[in-house]
Amino acid sequence: MKKATAFSLAIALTGAAFITSCNNNQTTTEKMETKAGITKAAWGNTDGKDVFLYTLTNAKGVQVKISNYGATVTSWVSPDKNNKPSSIVLGFDSLSGYLAKPPYFGAVVGRYGNRIAKGKFKIDNTQYTLATNNGSNALHGGLKGFDKQVWDASTQNDSTASLLLSYTSKDGEEGYPGNLKVTVRYTLTNDDELKIEYNATTDKPTVLNLTNHSYFNLTGDVSNSILDETLMIDADNYTPVDTTLIPTGEIKPVKGTPFDFTKAKKIGLEIGAVSGGYDHNFVLNKKDSSLQKIAALKDSISGRTLEVFTTQPGVQFYTGNFLDGTLSTPGAKKINQHAALCLETQHFPDSPNQPKFPTTLLLPGEQFHSVTVYKLSVN
Ligand code: GLA
Repeated sequence: MKKATAFSLAIALTGAAFITSCNNNQTTTEKMETKAGITKAAWGNTDGKDVFLYTLTNAKGVQVKISNYGATVTSWVSPDKNNKPSSIVLGFDSLSGYLAKPPYFGAVVGRYGNRIAKGKFKIDNTQYTLATNNGSNALHGGLKGFDKQVWDASTQNDSTASLLLSYTSKDGEEGYPGNLKVTVRYTLTNDDELKIEYNATTDKPTVLNLTNHSYFNLTGDVSNSILDETLMIDADNYTPVDTTLIPTGEIKPVKGTPFDFTKAKKIGLEIGAVSGGYDHNFVLNKKDSSLQKIAALKDSISGRTLEVFTTQPGVQFYTGNFLDGTLSTPGAKKINQHAALCLETQHFPDSPNQPKFPTTLLLPGEQFHSVTVYKLSVN
């Protein structure tokens, strides 16, 4: 294996890891003894800023790679039930893949993740107008949202590898009011949890909805459709949408509908009855903003299970309906419809225009804080 421009910042524990390195456009994967911790490699340049790829390794040798471009998780390599390593998320092995604007693979989306109807909202009596980049609506923070920004980064190495990413979104950026300071901390624990902590403050009233847009395929192989994976979502209600995927404002029971995932079921079982496939916000049963388990995804091919924990009130379950085979994996496999799914923990779509939904308003002097944990296991 050629050595990437990388340096190990600190060392805590040892384990066997599967290292993917990319150099001169060649990617190699091999098993090697490695140390738990975090490394940093040069990954190119955009907007006059240096981009890096960080590799977080835990004591078991599981590795998560994250770039400061878009605060993007680019891979999460773990062994399956046969000890064969593969990545459970969609991603590319070079910056150019992301500069080509894929549909938010692994990125942090904001300032407002998900949709705002017609790109318009009011705070007090002031009207704000955003770019409409999804039909008649605004989606995922606009033309150049947080997923397309170069974040500042600092690393931490104690018993767990942790990466802190920071971004200041200027007053008026993409039409949103207020200078917003955002941090996202990614931590890979020795229990195979990827913990994502979001913090933000503003100097003017603004709206905020932050999430991670990872696309999961637990089999580690996009030729297997996620329709065969099994999902539980702890939500008795969901928010129905109009034809442009904007909530109608109703909160409807899932019981007796294809949206009922309260008991684990195969994703493909009733998807045929959902026009366009699942792309809906589920109203989580949790009653407060404590960190609770809200979903579990299982795959029998790999033996992997992904549990999702969040402090947020909703989750957007999206079955990769718009993936259409135009993009390919680093291994040159076509990424077809339903090749991966997203479980985007969040506030509800279009909340700034929906007074009955939990508020997404952030005021000066307030500290926004949310946590989401994706926990992987295999048996
Ligand atoms: C979100 C949206 C989807 C789609 C994807 C990106 O999950 O809800 O409709 O826009 O992002 O393609």
